Amino acid sequence: MSALAFRLVCVDCAASHPGFEVRYRCACGGTLDVVHDLPKPDEGIDFALFDRRLASKESFDRSGVWRFRELVLPLAPAEIVTKPEGNTNLYRSERLASWVGIDDLAWKHEGENPTGSFKDRGMTVGISVAKKLGMERVACASTGNTSASMASYAATAGMKAYVFIPEGKVAFGKLSQALAYGATTIQIAGDFDVAMRLVQEACAARGVYLLNSINPFRIEGQKAIAFELLQDLAWSVPDWIVVPGGNLGNSAAIGKGLSELHALGLIQRLPKLAVIQASGANPFVTAFRTGAAVVPLAHAETRATAIRIGDPISWRKSLRGVTASGGLVDEVTDQEILDAKAHLDASGIGAEPASCAAVAGARKLAAAGVIGRGERVCGILTGHLLKDPEIVIDYHRGSLVGITSSHANAIRRSDPNLKAVLSAMGD
Ligand code: F0G
Repeated sequence: MSALAFRLVCVDCAASHPGFEVRYRCACGGTLDVVHDLPKPDEGIDFALFDRRLASKESFDRSGVWRFRELVLPLAPAEIVTKPEGNTNLYRSERLASWVGIDDLAWKHEGENPTGSFKDRGMTVGISVAKKLGMERVACASTGNTSASMASYAATAGMKAYVFIPEGKVAFGKLSQALAYGATTIQIAGDFDVAMRLVQEACAARGVYLLNSINPFRIEGQKAIAFELLQDLAWSVPDWIVVPGGNLGNSAAIGKGLSELHALGLIQRLPKLAVIQASGANPFVTAFRTGAAVVPLAHAETRATAIRIGDPISWRKSLRGVTASGGLVDEVTDQEILDAKAHLDASGIGAEPASCAAVAGARKLAAAGVIGRGERVCGILTGHLLKDPEIVIDYHRGSLVGITSSHANAIRRSDPNLKAVLSAMGD
């Protein structure tokens, strides 16, 4: 691997800090970016190199993060903790495309990562850096997926994991994973934003390594979603990428990755980035519309619990990517999210509710004429359908208060005899 150099640079004041150190914020309080000395055109970093690695049997080539390692982080193969992650499918469904109102519509299913969400891409880098820094304990606050991912990667690397979760608002699939992978799981009597504040304080007090996406190395792995998506498209650039937004690390990462490809001259234009929030957890939408800084919500509420966040940490970084690409930020209601989920699920693709904010957002933007029917659109499905099985059952049972289950596929009961079974089968 070529030994590229990098620094940590403050997003607010541009102060620069050395590469590998335990640091999540600048002295001024700003969040940090990993800024690479990007390779020169004659250093052989091109799409053909990444394509050749697809045929390799080495885990660091097979990983959909480390395959792009020159653009991710200069670690030696022996330093890398990988499952390997990525290599997620890009799905198309004519039925879904017609419901959304966009003809050329593809969905990259990040729920197909090893622990069932896009978080594994950032986590392989975060845990590898933790190992390099000699950290033996790691922690995160989470609405569920980050904690599932961190718990698994920490177990793989032989580290102790602490997860801080909001009380009663973590879907069962995710909670089960944190417990199963052996993380010390602390349910905070508060929401995600409270847990996020406390985990930063606890990590500082105990010298535990923080692995939320405020950790700039997480973003470096997560940006590989964009690299692999373009690779799936034979390195052609779509018109739009639509992604759900919560703490805003993912959209920040995708924006950063695309800007780096552009700066390298590997792509000639940027796809527009559309970030979709739930309307009950929409501080970034308000900030985007008013042009002001994010004002944290005292109380965020959405049934898409993964994005039930009122004080997103990475909003400045996310805004940078949205603005650079000429993209936008919008919101959808829980009803729209769950309608979209019913359609995505019934198409055979399926995803957890937060992912479906992207589906609902694409439909809303198409209906408004913001996204043209003929444009090339890719959405990111961030988590697996089985992460949140309760909401599926409740939706199809029609028992979600305030939600109309207009596409319910209710369970049919039958007495134990053939006549009753045939009647239950219908036509
Ligand atoms: N979709 C899913 C399934 C998520 O789990 C998350 C975030 C998002 C979308 C939003 O991504 O925060 O980068 O804007 N989940 C975090 C967690 C907060 O703790 O698992 P974001």
